[in-house]
Amino acid sequence: MRIEKTLSIIKPDIVKKNQIGEIINFLEKKGLKVVGMKMVHLTIQKAKRFYQEHQNRPFFEGMVKFMCSSPVVVMCLEGENAIKLNREIMGATNPHEAKEGTIRKIYGKNIEANAIHGSDSEEAAEQEINFFLKANYSINKIKN
Ligand code: CMP
Repeated sequence: MRIEKTLSIIKPDIVKKNQIGEIINFLEKKGLKVVGMKMVHLTIQKAKRFYQEHQNRPFFEGMVKFMCSSPVVVMCLEGENAIKLNREIMGATNPHEAKEGTIRKIYGKNIEANAIHGSDSEEAAEQEINFFLKANYSINKIKN
């Protein structure tokens, strides 16, 4: 059994639609545990730092602006194979391509307003958890 932690962000589209609770409930029902959480209103500067790997992509500026258009909810989720499980629960980045029953299929509007972000690897999870929630959640401390 491999217990992991991953970072999840409930994006502005969900916050504006008053559906934060539905998303948390969805994740909890699938077996992920919320072990850290805060609501933050990202500055443009902080959003750009978080998404810096995409800085040369044509959608970068628009995506950053969207992520700053309202507060977001940042969570550290824990569970067995949490990184992969969370990505399965979220579905494909583009809600139009996401499988039935996934969060992005149900709640996402388009590739930008796609409801939720989730770390895509162990390295990203550790870095992203530290970025938002500081040193308390290091996946490297988890033993198999
Ligand atoms: P996320 O999982 O938060 O990681 C990067 C984000 O960039 C992604 O979700 C999408 O919301 C966004 N994104 C990726 N591709 C595009 C695109 N072609 N147009 C607009 N936004 C995109």
